[in-house]
Amino acid sequence: MSRLDQVKRSLEAAGQAHVLRFWPELGEEQQEDFLEELLLLDLQRLREHCQAAAEAAAAPPCSLDRDMEPVPPEIIGSVKWSDPSSLSRWEDEGFLQISKSRVAVLLLAGGQGTRLGVPYPKGMFDVGLPSRKTLYQIQAERIRKVQQLADSRHGSSCTVPWYIMTSEFTLKPTQKFFKENRYFGLDPSNIILFEQRMVPAVTFDGKVIMEGKGKVAMAPDGNGGLYQALVDNKVLEDLARRSVDFLHVYCVDNILVKMADPVFIGFCVSRGADCGAKVIAKAHPAEPVGVVCRVRGVPQVVEYSEIPKETSELRGPNGELVYSAGNICNHFFTRTFLEDVAEMFMDQLKQHVAIKKVPFVDSSGNLVKPTKPNGIKMEKFVFDVFPFSKNFVVFEVVREDEFSPLKNADGADSDTPTAARNSLLSQHSRWVSSAGATLLDRDGTVIRPASCSSADQHPAECEISPLVSYFGEGLEQLLKGKRISTPFILDEKRVEEPQEQ
Ligand code: UD1
Repeated sequence: MSRLDQVKRSLEAAGQAHVLRFWPELGEEQQEDFLEELLLLDLQRLREHCQAAAEAAAAPPCSLDRDMEPVPPEIIGSVKWSDPSSLSRWEDEGFLQISKSRVAVLLLAGGQGTRLGVPYPKGMFDVGLPSRKTLYQIQAERIRKVQQLADSRHGSSCTVPWYIMTSEFTLKPTQKFFKENRYFGLDPSNIILFEQRMVPAVTFDGKVIMEGKGKVAMAPDGNGGLYQALVDNKVLEDLARRSVDFLHVYCVDNILVKMADPVFIGFCVSRGADCGAKVIAKAHPAEPVGVVCRVRGVPQVVEYSEIPKETSELRGPNGELVYSAGNICNHFFTRTFLEDVAEMFMDQLKQHVAIKKVPFVDSSGNLVKPTKPNGIKMEKFVFDVFPFSKNFVVFEVVREDEFSPLKNADGADSDTPTAARNSLLSQHSRWVSSAGATLLDRDGTVIRPASCSSADQHPAECEISPLVSYFGEGLEQLLKGKRISTPFILDEKRVEEPQEQ
């Protein structure tokens, strides 16, 4: 039987014969490309996928609120509330593990960035910092610095491998970008790009949507596609080969992300956790962040799109939000835990339904851009493995130091490029002030440290390269007592002679 006949038969068996409706109209090359694409689909499971999507979209939303409870305080560590000696103990532990090359970072970068609306991967975005660094460059430099800091503490020569999960949309441009930028000074053999799976978008009656005459509308299978991708791409084996035991997983868009954060890693390791989540206190009930909580006694994240409004608004006796542990998509996993997930729990991962407007070709072959939602995208979420954890911990960090995500284009109310840029500049201005230096504006007027809050609309143009300081450390010896005119960029070259007035 020819490859085409095989595909035809599988599509018919899955109730999806319409996929080949325009086959005779396609040129030879288009037919070849389309056939290749179809052969990559999981045709065995296609019927199941389409039925599940249609059923899930038709089912009434299942409300978890009666089974939800906040996470108990004994599993929470906090930058704000823990005593300085615990924080420094955790940091020491984290650096020790990093120095032994037992820690890797894993970036979730397979999303389409629809809300930001740029045609390239979000990590390549430049939010307009004085240095014009992209998110990828900032992250790469933080890895270099954290390695250096661990080495100088322990006399080691460590590696923090950088695993990057991409999708069909982001793999090639990311590869090209890293190559063109000479891997931002990292060793390319320690940057491991791999691809997650794609799944077809489906109509409400369970039919695969065609976005062209020879093209199925496909979307990445959600950031929870990570676990399948770890298996597909032999990443677990690679982690084992490198003797990496701890993985710090994070989302591409948080400009303040602390790569391989020693304090968080150290906290999780000290507690013997197999799985952990960093959280921030939610700013307001409607903030679009998931909440880390317990559902029927097990840890879980209830996503912002799935939490009932009344539940998100519940308040405790002192007016505080009951569900305030905001998920920032920043997680800790042991390798053993991930191996267990791959072996035992992969089939139990939930499917989440996203109802979207998916452009399609109609039965006459015309492209239609729907004005109403017409399609279902099924996604898995990275945090849906939390219920399988045997020892789950939560670590609360300070928003203005660690969370400023880039989600929307400028013009939106929040999480814009300008907001991300301002929060980084404000943080760096705070670091400079704490180091005992004085910032001056363009007219030579002193900028008061009090005005360096993350909500500052016009922060001082003060940027510190991650290669100079990972999280504000080491600046005192460079800057104490100095008066510094802005704009000011402190990079490696300038360390010998910071600009002064
Ligand atoms: C995510 C979290 C949410 C959290 C918020 C904080 C999930 C499911 N939701 O929401 O709880 O409060 O971040 O900013 O984690 N990605 C992939 N493959 C995909 C889809 C996404 O790798 O198929 C990556 C994205 O590139 C991004 C990350 O996952 O780095 C988060 O995806 P995004 O769609 O931005 O999640 P949010 O809805 O903002």
